[in-house]
Amino acid sequence: MTFPPPHACRIDVAAGTMAGATGTYQKRLADLVGLYADAAAFAARAEKEGTRVVYDVADFRPSGAPGDLIFGVTRMSPGSIGDEFFMTRGHIHAQTDRPEVYYGQKGLGLMQLESPEGETRILEIGAQTICYVPPYWIHRSINIGDEDLVMMFTYPADAGQDYGIIEQSQGMRHRVMRDGKGGWHLVENRDYRPRAPEKIAALLQAAQ
Ligand code: NI
Repeated sequence: MTFPPPHACRIDVAAGTMAGATGTYQKRLADLVGLYADAAAFAARAEKEGTRVVYDVADFRPSGAPGDLIFGVTRMSPGSIGDEFFMTRGHIHAQTDRPEVYYGQKGLGLMQLESPEGETRILEIGAQTICYVPPYWIHRSINIGDEDLVMMFTYPADAGQDYGIIEQSQGMRHRVMRDGKGGWHLVENRDYRPRAPEKIAALLQAAQ
């Protein structure tokens, strides 16, 4: 039998990159339309800085086989649209019972988690913090610091990502905003539409 080859990938913490990645992608400001509460502030910024990279991901995908692991590094710039911090689009895993681990490398961030029933949990991630995202939780990361947020991550190779889950509820239940005192606070998202019991049941059944 030919066994899969072992790999080591070096993280450049300052640059937020990983050598030996098999794939990379970038999200530019213009890609994040619809994410922020202040649509006018977003439009004004996107007109000037639409091509600016807000976050990027480099990953290593050995295979898509159940039981295998994808791992990589993500880097997000500091900043905000109005008072709302830069954040990732966010998702639930397509195989909803698949978990994920993040490991903070640099900067200061939050992992915003939302259960299918709409409970919000916030975990703060700094360098050397390990963050566990349990099965079934919708998750998004947010840069609340004033430098790049760099994190390593790993998740099951067959997890997949469902980005539509957040659009369908018109955002996550809470928004993470500057509190005017150098910190952050949660603000209720007025557009939020709770998931119907049938949708929640379907999410639980999407686990295989
Ligand atoms: Ni994930």
